[in-house]
Amino acid sequence: MNGVTKRIRNWLEVRVGLDELLRSNLTDYRVPSNINLFHTLGAVAVVGYLIQVITGICLLIYYIPHADHAFRSVQEIMTRVPYGWLFRQMHVVGSNLLIAAVFVHMVTIFLMGNYKRPRELTWISGGLLMVITLCFGFSGYLLPWTQLSYWATTVATSIPTAFPVVGDFVSRLLRGGSSVTGITLTRFFAVHVSLLPPLFVFLMVVHIALIRRIGLSATPFGRSDEEKRPLTEFRKKLHPDGYPYYPYLLQKQALMGILYFVVMFLVISFAPTFFFPEEATVPADAFKTPESIRPEWYFLAPYQMLKIIPNKFLGISLQIILLAVFIFWPFLDTHKEKNIFKRPVLRGVFIVVMIAMVILMWWGRR
Ligand code: HEM
Repeated sequence: MNGVTKRIRNWLEVRVGLDELLRSNLTDYRVPSNINLFHTLGAVAVVGYLIQVITGICLLIYYIPHADHAFRSVQEIMTRVPYGWLFRQMHVVGSNLLIAAVFVHMVTIFLMGNYKRPRELTWISGGLLMVITLCFGFSGYLLPWTQLSYWATTVATSIPTAFPVVGDFVSRLLRGGSSVTGITLTRFFAVHVSLLPPLFVFLMVVHIALIRRIGLSATPFGRSDEEKRPLTEFRKKLHPDGYPYYPYLLQKQALMGILYFVVMFLVISFAPTFFFPEEATVPADAFKTPESIRPEWYFLAPYQMLKIIPNKFLGISLQIILLAVFIFWPFLDTHKEKNIFKRPVLRGVFIVVMIAMVILMWWGRR
């Protein structure tokens, strides 16, 4: 270390206690020795979110949130702004990858039973993060003001009207009138760039603070002495079954973060139109309904479910109940066993739900 670096380091050491900060957060902080690559998916979601923020800010410089200009401004970003196409592709491909990563993160947490006591609040904050991530997708979809985004939003914002008493109010609140117009665009833009980001950051801080306090769960499929000790002791330095967070887990997380980038650039390079069907390249026209309107892949299952249940009120009520069951699941499943392979009924329910989701998605695409 040369003289200048040493002096900067000493200066910081006196003021912020850098050594102690790094030691307590990196090497003294312990993680279970039998964690696996699935334990990196939360960090992948953090990386994915940061990419969305950075590329989103770049897009904001040229995007115009007005019905008369939005479509043209996005075309200019794609064709005239230097590297505009790259930032837009990263933002669009990234939003899809982020939702996929969060989904896999959630499923693996479920399979390992890591939502159980004392991690109920970690699960609930994660569930709310999932909902907000989907709201990002929903609100961002309208912004390019294309035929697809216009009509998909028209269909989606009409869904609440099936609900008595408050349904019409909710629909009008979302649209800012009786149909999707420039006012809807302004509202969705405001939600997308100024309401959801602070909410997301707040929940992410809560989520990660809880994980840091309690410590990561050991994988229930291997050997671990986690359960024999007080549940929040795991993260401590003296824990005999623990490995230092750095380099043991941080390296794995960095590797998976890089893999996330690789997948993103593979999609952008070899399948640049994958997330841009034809209707997504035509400007919105309120007088011309396209032949097929379908939402993004992550909304296909609930969308198809609503389509096949003849009574819309029943369909929406069922989905609200399913969402509540998902968010409060740790309080419903109080069984002590974490390993899903030792719980045949839960395993059966999980497989049925996954198959039903795949069938509904495939059906909704047709
Ligand atoms: C964008 C959204 C999310 C972010 C940024 C995020 C971030 C993280 C991070 C960094 C970790 C620690 C490392 C790991 O296990 O991967 C973690 C763990 C965890 N996450 Fe998330 N997460 C998100 C969504 C979710 C969702 C949707 C759920 C479930 C509904 C969830 C539930 C949990 C639980 C219970 C843990 C603790 C795991 C353990 O103790 O082993 N998270 N999350």
